[in-house]
Amino acid sequence: MAQRFTAAITGLFAVPASQAVEKLTEGQPPSAVQRAKLAETQVGRARPKAEFKTISCSNEFPRHPKSGERSVMHILIRLAKARDVPLLSKLIAASVRGLQAADYSAAQLESALRTVYGVDTQLISDGTYFAAEETESSGAPLLVGCGGWSKRRTLYGGDQFAGREDSLLDPATDAAKIRAFFVHPAWARRGIGGKILEACEAAAWAAGFRRLERGATLTGVPFYRAKGYVELEAAEVPLGDGLTLPIVRMGKRALELGREAKSW
Ligand SMILES: CC(C)(COP(=O)(O)OP(=O)(O)OC[C@H]1O[C@@H](n2cnc3c(N)ncnc32)[C@H](O)[C@@H]1OP(=O)(O)O)[C@@H](O)C(=O)NCCC(=O)NCCS
Repeated sequence: MAQRFTAAITGLFAVPASQAVEKLTEGQPPSAVQRAKLAETQVGRARPKAEFKTISCSNEFPRHPKSGERSVMHILIRLAKARDVPLLSKLIAASVRGLQAADYSAAQLESALRTVYGVDTQLISDGTYFAAEETESSGAPLLVGCGGWSKRRTLYGGDQFAGREDSLLDPATDAAKIRAFFVHPAWARRGIGGKILEACEAAAWAAGFRRLERGATLTGVPFYRAKGYVELEAAEVPLGDGLTLPIVRMGKRALELGREAKSW
């Protein structure tokens, strides 16, 4: 199982990396105008194609080429570590506020950020949560995406979520859970979510699981559909104050999972 690999993205980014760094580190919610722009650029419209290829399996962090090849961006998919948690939390908030605004109200999003969305440190401890890391030419690491899988029953929710069930699943009979996928708005539709999902599916397959399921946000449904998942049932996550978060339980069958895992 390749848990670490680097991928080179060729093609120019619509949002300069420096701007995205600013957004991520400041962790500020976008203004109404920014949200409208994000909705326009993120929902239903792919950005210029990004090309991924595996270029190394080394533990060395990839750097940008010195000159003349500045359009090549390096993304490292690696296991998340406990020290990543503060940046992951900012990334999750930026992703939710930037990418889910067309599907949920601001009240739903802010409530979900308080009670449901967040880092599940159990996944980090289990070694089943991935971070997508990009480096500036200065070499400063930047987290642009995250997502994981789980051998435990909890279907969704960060550490703060009350409805957790951390007992272990049986790979022979149970579906592994796909968990907590978030890509920074400035890096959406570049294939990063897809690469993290491939890493999760391969790891779950290697652990003996032959089915996967997840509780998908409405924003995530087209992504999972594109990756071979089918809708199983609609559900509502209680958020308090009379609010709920509509989600969709989605699953993927063994045949599709096996074929993709083998060809990965
Ligand atoms: C869902 C999410 C993780 C997808 O990440 P991503 O890196 O943008 O996804 P990819 O670039 O790998 O997309 C792969 C394919 O999925 C489909 N897809 C992804 N986002 C889509 C969208 N908004 N509308 C329609 N199709 C979409 C497309 O087929 C896409 O391929 P294409 O770009 O060549 O058309 C990202 O949108 C996100 O973080 N959303 C906010 C948080 C969230 O709701 N997470 C889901 C939790 S269930």
